[in-house]
Amino acid sequence: MPEAPLLRTEALTRAFGSLIAVDRVDVAVRRGELRSIIGPNGAGKTTFFRLISGETTPTSGRVWFGGREITGLPQHAVARLGITKSYQITNVFPHLTVHENVRVAVQGWARSFNFWSRADALTDVAERAHALLRTVGLAAKSAQLAAHLAHGEKRHLEIALAIASEPELLLLDEPTAGMSPEETDETMRLIRELTAGRTVILVEHKMKVVMKISDRITVLHQGQVLAEGTPEEIRANERVQQTYLGAIR
Ligand SMILES: Nc1ncnc2c1ncn2[C@@H]1O[C@H](COP(=O)(O)OP(=O)(O)OP(=O)(O)O)[C@@H](O)[C@H]1O
Ligand SMILES: [Mg+2]
Repeated sequence: MPEAPLLRTEALTRAFGSLIAVDRVDVAVRRGELRSIIGPNGAGKTTFFRLISGETTPTSGRVWFGGREITGLPQHAVARLGITKSYQITNVFPHLTVHENVRVAVQGWARSFNFWSRADALTDVAERAHALLRTVGLAAKSAQLAAHLAHGEKRHLEIALAIASEPELLLLDEPTAGMSPEETDETMRLIRELTAGRTVILVEHKMKVVMKISDRITVLHQGQVLAEGTPEEIRANERVQQTYLGAIR
């Protein structure tokens, strides 16, 4: 029997007045998968994320995570179960150094699980923070104030902060927004490296990136799932080409 999906939504729906932003969406993401969600502006991608993370409650429909129903759970409860949204932790503290920012995130995670109660806990936290910074290429900037990082470096710091909490499911909403093609390539390499073996849902507008990085792609259009499949299947899908690929930004 195939393994049950890590995340599953059933007829997930969110209306804002007469506008149905997310319309009966069924999605199943298996453990370890990198799923991208694409669709034109206003397709419902961010709202879908908010419904999963508990930031917004659904009008109807259900959400399961790790076999347990999480529909309507408040955000902090969902976060505790291991769903992390990258820009939610965009609590980059500008007046702390890069290293201090990551240390705070690692420490918060460790404490919430009572993970390190040993005497050398602080060394472990500092070492883990350093390891994360090396992975995201910010080791040389450790002592700099976060406020002084360049835009692309800040986004890398955010990714390090998101990973610091060891999420079961990581939601990334347009991690390469505002980046140059070179920065985008570097960020994608990072995401691939840091999320190996993790489950990730990525919202991204840059098709080149999406086609390269995704295991599967879900296409949203006016709140509904227009198509789902591998990058090859999505590229070849006629409805997707007609509805979406022409409208790419
Ligand atoms: N809090 C809200 N109140 C009213 N309408 C909303 C609210 N949040 C989203 N919407 C509407 O729901 C629709 C879907 O919005 P959403 O932000 O989910 O789209 P998106 O796919 O993330 O778009 P983009 O690619 O521009 O980020 C849009 O028409 C938007 O105006
Ligand atoms: Mg959005």
